[in-house]
Amino acid sequence: MATHARSAPLGDLASRLFATRTLTLDLAAPLSDADATIQPFPDASPAKWHLAHTTWFFETFVLRDHAAGYRQFAERWAYLFNSYYEAEGPRHARPRRGMLSRPSLDEVRAYRAHVDEALERALPNLSPAALELVELGINHEQQHQELLLTDILATFAENPLHPAYGELRPPACFSAEPLAWHRGRDGIVEIGASAGAFAFDSERPRHRAFLSSHELAGRRVTNREWREFVEDGGYRTPALWLSDGWAWVQQEGIAAPRYWDEDATEFTLGGRRQIDWAAPVAHVSYYEADAFARWAGARLPTEAEWEDFAASADPMLGNQLDEAGAVVPGAAGGVFGDVWEWTQSAFASYPGFAPAEGAVGEYNGKFMCGQFVLKGASCATPRGHSRASYRNFFPPSARWQFTGLRLARDA
Ligand SMILES: [Fe+2]
Repeated sequence: MATHARSAPLGDLASRLFATRTLTLDLAAPLSDADATIQPFPDASPAKWHLAHTTWFFETFVLRDHAAGYRQFAERWAYLFNSYYEAEGPRHARPRRGMLSRPSLDEVRAYRAHVDEALERALPNLSPAALELVELGINHEQQHQELLLTDILATFAENPLHPAYGELRPPACFSAEPLAWHRGRDGIVEIGASAGAFAFDSERPRHRAFLSSHELAGRRVTNREWREFVEDGGYRTPALWLSDGWAWVQQEGIAAPRYWDEDATEFTLGGRRQIDWAAPVAHVSYYEADAFARWAGARLPTEAEWEDFAASADPMLGNQLDEAGAVVPGAAGGVFGDVWEWTQSAFASYPGFAPAEGAVGEYNGKFMCGQFVLKGASCATPRGHSRASYRNFFPPSARWQFTGLRLARDA
């Protein structure tokens, strides 16, 4: 298959597996069964569903298919917790995941314990192909850890009492660094993941891309800069917007980032608080990022420009998720962390792309239509999950993730 798990010792894989499984439980620990059952809108999922679906992934693709004698925890649950795998049969409708008051959160925790125990027993005897699926399952669960946090943020944002998921530290710095421009490389460069370490199939193969003369901003667009865009009538000036974006602004009544309020506060995982003006703007859509860039006399970077720029940056640095608790973008800067960065590149296949074999071939390839690539990592991305070749993707109107932007311009 095309996921290419790293050939790490089994002990390393096992410790990363169980650390990941534990972190998911820790992320859900502050939630009541009711908190974990709500689905705030059709694209977001209840926390309980994330806990169960990530477990179903291991149960189905590792244990059922590769561990002799494994007994499913509850056969009928596959219908509830299969996300989008057509090869795995019919499933519960995505927009109705919030209707599942049962199984309870505790029953889902018991499901997790059952699968974890089976994984522990099975690991020493798994084939290399099955171990690659364990590696994929770890990376899959890390993606859902980030979604669990952003979906809980969206859930709590619905509550007029503004509940806090956890405690946030106050902002560490009060001014962003001045905007500097970095000249990028021109000509033919290579992007994409090379063979060896784990990467998703969509990051491969590594291939050549052409970069024209360009510059990239040394930091992300800040909340303060976004306020200038708002005050300058950015949301009311059709000439700044793509046609689809302008229709979306009108239809949805969009006038600011998703969690901003008119009293200069924003809703965060720590509850409602003053907007941190020096921090990178977050929770903006592709449409908004594109309009802002046009207003600023710039444009969004291409994926290849961004990846070449980030190739020498350490993806382990920056404000990313280390342990359970509330997170928020901060003003520390860097390339990875705080917010995912919209690029102007469509999420499409690379030359020579081959989806992974079997049902997991549905993981990325079938979503290569109508979505844009985001690069980097956010404050909710588990540290170690991302890399320069990583391709996050969302539709252009999505903005419940920690999504911001870095400007680019022709040079
Ligand atoms: Fe999933």
